Amino acid sequence: MIECLIKDFPRHAQEEVTIRGWVSNRRSSGKVSFLVLRDGSGVCQAIAEREVLGEELYPEIKKIPLESSVIVRGTIREEPRSPGGYELTVTGLEIVQKSEEFPIGKKEHGPDFLLNNRHLWLRSGRQTAIMRVRDTLVRNVREYFHRNDFTLLDSPIFTTTCGEDTSSLFSVDYFDLGKAYLSQTGQLYLEAAIFGLGKVYCLGPTFRAERSKTRRHLIEFWMVEAEVAFADHEKNLALQEDFVSFIVQNTIAERAEELAYLERDLEPLKKVTPPFYRITYDEALKILGEHGSDIQWGADLGGDDETIITGLYDKPVFIEHYPKKVKAFYMKEHPEKPEYVKCADLLAPEGYGEIIGGSQREDDHGKLLQAILDNGLDPERYGWYLDLRKYGSVPHSGFGLGIERTLSWICGLKHVRETIPFPRMIYRAYP
Ligand code: 4AD
Ligand code: MG
Repeated sequence: MIECLIKDFPRHAQEEVTIRGWVSNRRSSGKVSFLVLRDGSGVCQAIAEREVLGEELYPEIKKIPLESSVIVRGTIREEPRSPGGYELTVTGLEIVQKSEEFPIGKKEHGPDFLLNNRHLWLRSGRQTAIMRVRDTLVRNVREYFHRNDFTLLDSPIFTTTCGEDTSSLFSVDYFDLGKAYLSQTGQLYLEAAIFGLGKVYCLGPTFRAERSKTRRHLIEFWMVEAEVAFADHEKNLALQEDFVSFIVQNTIAERAEELAYLERDLEPLKKVTPPFYRITYDEALKILGEHGSDIQWGADLGGDDETIITGLYDKPVFIEHYPKKVKAFYMKEHPEKPEYVKCADLLAPEGYGEIIGGSQREDDHGKLLQAILDNGLDPERYGWYLDLRKYGSVPHSGFGLGIERTLSWICGLKHVRETIPFPRMIYRAYP
């Protein structure tokens, strides 16, 4: 008897096979039970009849608790009305473990209940669909960089040189060296790597002790960052357009089935091709003022502001040239307008908002040192980073894209908490 995965049923029609999995659903009568089986590769309907399975086994199957693990023998039959187009006529069934009553049922559960049971919720059809899209998205991210001659550069998680807002750092005791911090970004390390490798990227977890309780914020999230030598702001935006278009188009093409299950309308995503829209920060402020926002010059866009802007465009939109004082110290000063920096945030449409933060980097030693001091940072900790401006400094640029926010947009989810297997939020570090 051959062992078979549900996804391979089409290749084994009419054969008798064994599958191993779980009972996702069951509908039983006196004579026949319809089981929905799940094996990690797919789901199928299985038909168990009293006549075939006998007086001893059939009553067990008839009342088998949901989520019980099973080894099922049966014949694969084509059945157009069945999900997947095939079903299994059961000829034998072994219960591996009879499940206790599964806490997640058909009725609506609140988000807290589901998050407390994330370890169980993760096996649901919706969550497995999201995790498959995540897998495909991350694979396409790596594929893009591989095809475009970038080298993967794994940046450290423990750092003593901080890249972003120092108020959102997690500190840990690092032996006799005092405090070290969990990385908020791999960018500074990527900058060191371009001198040997030209084009590099990193993809890993990042940590932000932000007290934001929004649908866009996680405490631990995955970010992919790219850094390119001899690339200015314009090249940086062109790279981002090409990259985002590639990952979106490939992911929706490869995961059409899962996205349909999630009821995602693919039409807006199909439009994600270069060029994207571009507006300046000052233009954004004008638009926001006209739409009732009270944002003042010099403030960062809030979540509501991003929602307003992205509602106005049918493709991603770059917001370029923020005031220097809103952004991180490493961004390159605008040559004509020194109160601005050469940066852009990329906002995803349909209300999703910022998915990328990027910029050209300050490559002048004196200006960078001044920016470090102006931001109240300790130049000693940035010794190595400043060195990069002494030994063959070049114009260079890069960006970072949040995997969870991008996935939430691609899947059409309301909240990032479903996009990562075990979300970390201010009030949640369990399970
Ligand atoms: O805009 P951010 O802070 O940029 C950087 O960290 C730069 N060092 C990147 C670079 O230029 N190499 O973060 C980049 C992206 C955001 O646009 C967002 O998608 C995501 O990371 N992100 C978060 N995602 C979920 N939860 C949070 N708390 C996030 N903070 C940032
Ligand atoms: Mg940002």
